Amino acid sequence: MMNILVIGSGGREHALAWQCAKDDTVKNVYIAPGNAGTALEPKCQNVILNDTDGEHSGVIEFCQANAIDMVIVGPEAPLVSGIVDACRDAGIKAWGPTAYCAQLEGSKTFAKEFMAQNNIPTAAYQGFTDAAAAKAYIDEQGAPIVIKADGLAAGKGVIVAETIEQAYEAIDDMLAGNKFGDAGSRVVIEQFLQGEEASFICMIDGDNILPMATSQDHKRAYEGDTGPNTGGMGAYSPAPVVTQAVHDKVMAKVIQPVVDAMKAAGHPYTGFLYAGLMIDKSGDPYVIEFNCRFGDPETQPILMRLQSSMVDLVAQGLAGQLPSAAKWDARPALGIVIASKGYPESSSKGDVIAGLPKLDTDNANLVKVFHAGTAFSDAEVQDQNANHQKEVVTNGGRVLCVTALADSISDAQQAALAVTGAISFDGAQYRRDIGHHAIARENSRS
Ligand code: AMP
Ligand code: GLY
Repeated sequence: MMNILVIGSGGREHALAWQCAKDDTVKNVYIAPGNAGTALEPKCQNVILNDTDGEHSGVIEFCQANAIDMVIVGPEAPLVSGIVDACRDAGIKAWGPTAYCAQLEGSKTFAKEFMAQNNIPTAAYQGFTDAAAAKAYIDEQGAPIVIKADGLAAGKGVIVAETIEQAYEAIDDMLAGNKFGDAGSRVVIEQFLQGEEASFICMIDGDNILPMATSQDHKRAYEGDTGPNTGGMGAYSPAPVVTQAVHDKVMAKVIQPVVDAMKAAGHPYTGFLYAGLMIDKSGDPYVIEFNCRFGDPETQPILMRLQSSMVDLVAQGLAGQLPSAAKWDARPALGIVIASKGYPESSSKGDVIAGLPKLDTDNANLVKVFHAGTAFSDAEVQDQNANHQKEVVTNGGRVLCVTALADSISDAQQAALAVTGAISFDGAQYRRDIGHHAIARENSRS
């Protein structure tokens, strides 16, 4: 029987832990640090690991003391700081890219140079540290234009400027105002790409590529894809924009070149690789960004559809024996994020969450509420059957992701909305239009 450690605290990690716990060969799933949802999952247990020394020694000691068979790393920060390298050095199996490979997400400049060297299609760009030079470039290029903080900024360090004035403002915020701290001390200015976005996520074992089901997320805070960029307000799988022809192009022009180039550089890519794509009118993909991990919230609908064992896939990945395809439920899945007051500018903690479906009554194969920024308060509450339960409160920006599997994307949206509407907390915000691109396609077909 296996013991698994999942690193992270978001909806992605709840979904990964839930999938791992379903496996009969798994005894314990530990989540560090996890959230209220992972704490409530059968076989799952949250753990707090001291991992602030940069050496990841808290993780390594925990793995050694608890006979951990595999570590699955959710978020980018520990990957960028070398958690996989540290585990490997200690003889622990950890699924993710090394720090070298994680630079594809950790540094936009690294990613851009890598793409240029390997002829991977992406927007034209230039990097700046000086505000005046950045503004002169903006004048030359005109608007719309895209301004990005160079380092990690949790998906929020990107401004799509519609006008020159907005572009100037973004430069002032990032380079002069220091809005994103060190992540913004250098900016990348990019050509604005037109088309439809899709998330293309794969598992890679250094050589072999196993594409996950395709997906699309909604990065803007408000309905109609307006408002500021967020970490993602909802997602669905599959993404109809990724036809077989587009899929083939992405594999040939984007994913395979990454695998080949990393291998040639002596740093084989292992772990999840996420290409955020813009698909233009002729079905040609351009890379908007690489992430060195699974997407959040894409993981939630994708894993609702996964019929293969996640644990088997990771074990095969760690052994360099990934299959070329996994088994998926043919039905689509769609997840709606409920965010806390103020998100994405700020977030609210400690607001009591009401209306969460009980785990045992929750038909978890059709609708599943994945937790992200949730925690237990000190209080206990009584449910309708007079059972005592710990009270669940908000603990971050993205709080929950209500995910449904159904016969069509619009049915999945309705099913997710029905459960979302029953959940409430002070300042809860969510979008009612997740999946609108795909639903428009469904409607135009019928
Ligand atoms: P990123 O964090 O780089 O994925 O950017 C966040 C979001 O900003 C993307 O999902 C796109 O919606 C948008 N975006 C980023 N770069 C571009 C670009 N070059 N052209 C158009 N939209 C972009
Ligand atoms: N959903 C976008 C991301 O995971 O970066």
